[in-house]
Amino acid sequence: MTVLLETQSVSKNFGALRATREVSFKLEEGARHALIGPNGAGKTTFINLLTGVLPPNSGKVLLKDRDITQMAQAERVKLGIARTFQINRLFRGLSVLENVYMAVAERVGAAPKMLTPAGAQRDVIDESMQLLESLKLADIAHHTIVGLPYGRQRLVELAITLGLKPEVLLLDEPAAGVPSAESHIILDAIDALPKTIGVLIIDHDMDLVFRFAKRITVLVRGAIFAEGTPKEIGANPDVRAVYLGQATQHG
Ligand SMILES: Nc1ncnc2c1ncn2[C@@H]1O[C@H](COP(=O)(O)OP(=O)(O)O)[C@@H](O)[C@H]1O
Ligand SMILES: [Mg+2]
Repeated sequence: MTVLLETQSVSKNFGALRATREVSFKLEEGARHALIGPNGAGKTTFINLLTGVLPPNSGKVLLKDRDITQMAQAERVKLGIARTFQINRLFRGLSVLENVYMAVAERVGAAPKMLTPAGAQRDVIDESMQLLESLKLADIAHHTIVGLPYGRQRLVELAITLGLKPEVLLLDEPAAGVPSAESHIILDAIDALPKTIGVLIIDHDMDLVFRFAKRITVLVRGAIFAEGTPKEIGANPDVRAVYLGQATQHG
């Protein structure tokens, strides 16, 4: 198996707080991997180390054996590491299609403006519409972001991220705020991705995690607590004690 993204003993401190503790982790080609753990376990911090939002205090981050520990976020995106955008990355006054168009246009180096018909490229529009169809957003392609329910906005963010055609896809709670009846749309869209893409997902919804993941890593207080198949993790009494029982209690 080819390892796409790897960390070797990465640590991150915020003052006295050890948010990431010597985490050695591998995301393989075609991975459908979930990262779970209690609130404050360091899941988002770990994603920030992978994407270059934060530099680690020690340890290495490798992309296909290349040391990218010091590489800036934008460079990593160009090499194929994409994550879900924060909500405020959406252009709220523009339509759903225009938002996705700009992401696809940037990737292919086309003119970013589609506000005039002459400025828009047919192939970029077609690809954008295909993305919207895969996320069941085609019927609202011409609606502006500002009027959309939050769940729809999260799906638009996912469409934009997929528009970057990533090799590694990092999803930090993509279903947060999406009505549970619609969370399957996210999973269906990920299922439809090329099988070689490595996907790492963080989510609190254990139904979603156990349906999606072929492999699960449990993070507790910044360190890897357990790792294995969903079956192994589900049956692990220590994991149940620290996390799964607690997650059930809180819904
Ligand atoms: N930029 C930051 N500065 C200081 N502390 C932070 C920062 N980001 C996260 N933390 C702290 O690091 C710990 C891990 O946070 P986080 O990675 O967001 O956890 P999770 O995503 O698992 O809920 C928490 O105690 C959080 O308060
Ligand atoms: Mg988080």
